[in-house]
Formats: sequence, C-alpha cells, structure tokens
Amino acid sequence: MPASELLVEAARAARERAVADYSGFKVGAALETIDGHIITGCNIENATYGLTVCAERVAIFKAISEGHRAFRRLVVVADTASPTPPCGACRQIMWEFCGDIEVVMANLETVTATLQMRELLPLPFDQRLL
Ligand code: THU
Repeated sequence: MPASELLVEAARAARERAVADYSGFKVGAALETIDGHIITGCNIENATYGLTVCAERVAIFKAISEGHRAFRRLVVVADTASPTPPCGACRQIMWEFCGDIEVVMANLETVTATLQMRELLPLPFDQRLL
C-alpha cells in the first residue's frame, strides 16, 4: 500500500473513534511526520459544545506532545461526497505548527481534494508579523 493510502486508511480508522454525540459528524485526521510517523486524531465533542476539538487539532497536539515538530502531510476524512475542509481555527494551528504542508481531504471511498496549506490560508497571521 502506498504511503499516502496508508495515511488515508489511518484517518478513516481514527474517524471510527470520533466522539460526535451532538453533531453526529465524525471526522478523522492523520498527520505524517517528515520521518514517516503517522499520528491520528478524531473530533471530540462534549456537552458544552463550544469545547469541542476538531480531529486535525487533536492530531497536531498529540504529535507535538510526543516530540514531533516537522510534518509532511495531513489527511482529513469525513463521510461526505464533497471535501470537508479544516475549520478556520484548525487552519491557524496547522499553519503555525505544520507550515505549507499538503492537505488531503477524503471520504470513506476516495480522495475528494488535495490542497496546499497556503491555498487554504492565503494571508496568514503568524510569528513574522509580531
Ligand atoms: N470537525 C472536525 O473535526 N474537522 C473538520 O475539518 C470540520 C469539523 C468537527 C467539529 C465538530 O465535532 C463536527 O465536526 C461538526 O462541526
């Protein structure tokens, strides 16, 4: 299985672990490090709604807390015919910690879109502006 397909499969498996009792919208993410590790995440909702954390940020924060700091690609999986792009909060965090990585959107059968981070967040606020 090619590396990118392994990553998509890892995101699909992570999606199964989503805690999406309020929205019913399950999302999985898989982040590939420069040295080939795969770190996954799923969305985690709770009764306050507002403290929900998206799959992408769970994957990134897990990766960072495990010592990974350089990333190549992120896959996001949802059960939707059209691509599910990362929310604005996730884009900000993705840019800060992953830079201009490739972002692959997929559903349970196929890849629906592939974009670079700079296309998803064309005018970012970041450290360079501080
Ligand atoms: N969600 C993600 O986890 N990632 C996305 O890219 C889009 C949205 C989650 C947040 C919430 O738990 C549910 O999907 C509905 O918005």
